[in-house]
Amino acid sequence: MTKIAIVEGDGIGREVIPEAEKILRFFLPNAEFVKVELGFDQWKKTGSACSKENMTTLKEMDAVLFGAVTTPPDPEYKSVLLEIRHELDLYANIRPVKSESVDLVIVRENTEGLYSGIEEIGEDKSTTLRVITKAGSRRIAEKACSLNIQRNQNTPLVIGHKANVLKSDILFRDTCITVAESQNLPVRSMFIDALCLDVLLHPDRYDVIVTTNMFGDILSDACGYLTGGLGMLPSANIGENHALFEPVHGSAPDIAGRNIANPIAAVRSAAMLLEYLGMKTEAEKIEKAVQQTLSLRIVTPDLGGNASTRDVGENILAKISEHQ
Ligand code: NAI
Ligand code: MG
Repeated sequence: MTKIAIVEGDGIGREVIPEAEKILRFFLPNAEFVKVELGFDQWKKTGSACSKENMTTLKEMDAVLFGAVTTPPDPEYKSVLLEIRHELDLYANIRPVKSESVDLVIVRENTEGLYSGIEEIGEDKSTTLRVITKAGSRRIAEKACSLNIQRNQNTPLVIGHKANVLKSDILFRDTCITVAESQNLPVRSMFIDALCLDVLLHPDRYDVIVTTNMFGDILSDACGYLTGGLGMLPSANIGENHALFEPVHGSAPDIAGRNIANPIAAVRSAAMLLEYLGMKTEAEKIEKAVQQTLSLRIVTPDLGGNASTRDVGENILAKISEHQ
């Protein structure tokens, strides 16, 4: 039996995930859904944002649907999501950016770089170690190449880096180039800062962009500009044995608890989860229903509408049911 963990987390995670969960349950009526409580609320209650048992449960699942977790105001606190990505070795963060005129995907290395978690925090000096390994660069480059081939857009694989300043990025860039060339794929190497602007100006010139951890984090939020905001962007965190799907956005405390968060990023993350389980047709049905809901202008305030989170979720589900 398929086992899916549902982690709402906190903030708007508690509002958007239930909408995505309804859709998952519709397509997976026989799956086992396991609710896992972790994040800021858990931290407030128990002093730990994610227990050992939580982690064990996540490892037993076929896939995880994840909302968002707030960072507590404690300098000692280590990010739960980073911990999960490391523990489950979810090395590939796949972040599609799609709208009527845009169709590209950011492939972000997800376990090393500046988010290695190796830090020394002092009063006068704090350091964070940026780790780039050949093995880590190779496996993310291979993932990006296979996506580039699969998408068949005839657009070179773009490598985003800062090798002119960060010498560690020479290893990343060169490993990506070697992997792409070994597969006869055209590559374009670009400095990440110039790339950030160019992708916003000319998104049509891009298909697959591979980059390191923090650059990918920043670039993907910036690409929210191309799609109507953060509420639209889903992501997949994929490893050899595990997978976790989550919106790109965070817990949005500024709008939490008001039933106005855009659930589309979460719903699209659920679609990516189904695709990962081999249910591509079902994933496409979800995207079609999202498009219909958008064209009916049943949208939350971030997109200029006045629908609630639940209105949008229910409409998407209704459209899906109509087509069944
Ligand atoms: P955020 O992504 O939560 O919010 C940024 C802005 O976008 C806010 O104005 C918010 O209202 C808006 N927004 C985000 N998602 C939206 C949605 N679905 N619908 C409508 N508007 C939306 O990022 P922020 O404010 O930097 O971080 C808030 C908290 O979330 C922090 O504690 C941060 O550490 C955490 N965070 C967690 C992440 C995760 O769990 N994956 C990722 C990013 C941030
Ligand atoms: Mg982010």
